[in-house]
Amino acid sequence: MSVEAMQFKNALKLWASGVTVVTTQGRDNQPRGMTATAFSSVSVEPPQVLVCLNQATDTGAALLESRRFAVNILNSAQEDVSNQFAGGTTQEQRFASVAWQMGENGAPVFSECLAVLECRVVQQVQAGSHWVIIGEVDNVVCREGDPLLYYASGYRKVADRG
Ligand SMILES: Cc1cc2nc3c(=O)[nH]c(=O)nc-3n(C[C@H](O)[C@H](O)[C@H](O)COP(=O)(O)O)c2cc1C
Repeated sequence: MSVEAMQFKNALKLWASGVTVVTTQGRDNQPRGMTATAFSSVSVEPPQVLVCLNQATDTGAALLESRRFAVNILNSAQEDVSNQFAGGTTQEQRFASVAWQMGENGAPVFSECLAVLECRVVQQVQAGSHWVIIGEVDNVVCREGDPLLYYASGYRKVADRG
């Protein structure tokens, strides 16, 4: 029995997540980045995370070459940043829309966002249309604020702070 693409997508729309922009540096020394919600923690000791990037993406290809990337966790005011990095724009336009600097491990990091994890690729798995990329975390920054959320094809904000 096979699951139809629409059924699969409908089920995944019910998964609420935060929003990240995964960044890296291209061989041409220019920054690359793309919006990604397929992000997860993997291991605490050593600290590892994963991102799932479509093999057709410019950012994914550059990341697997440089072996360095940053996961920028967006705050609730960064819906526009998420849209900029989600396609229909050049990499130049994307990075002109945010304040960023070069991070300690050689990947661009956002100057304003909720958190940054600077990573080194330690494993990569080809899975269907995507790469599952596991990175070891070398540096972390956390800032004040609320997260940007994504659920049922739309951006959301935290309503319940417990
Ligand atoms: C909310 C949101 C989440 C997304 N999450 C992912 C993801 O986890 N993995 C992925 O490959 N693409 C994801 N995308 C699509 C990419 O952001 C988009 O294909 C991107 O423009 C690719 O950039 P590039 O090919 O220019 O590098 C997402 C898009 C949106 C709007």
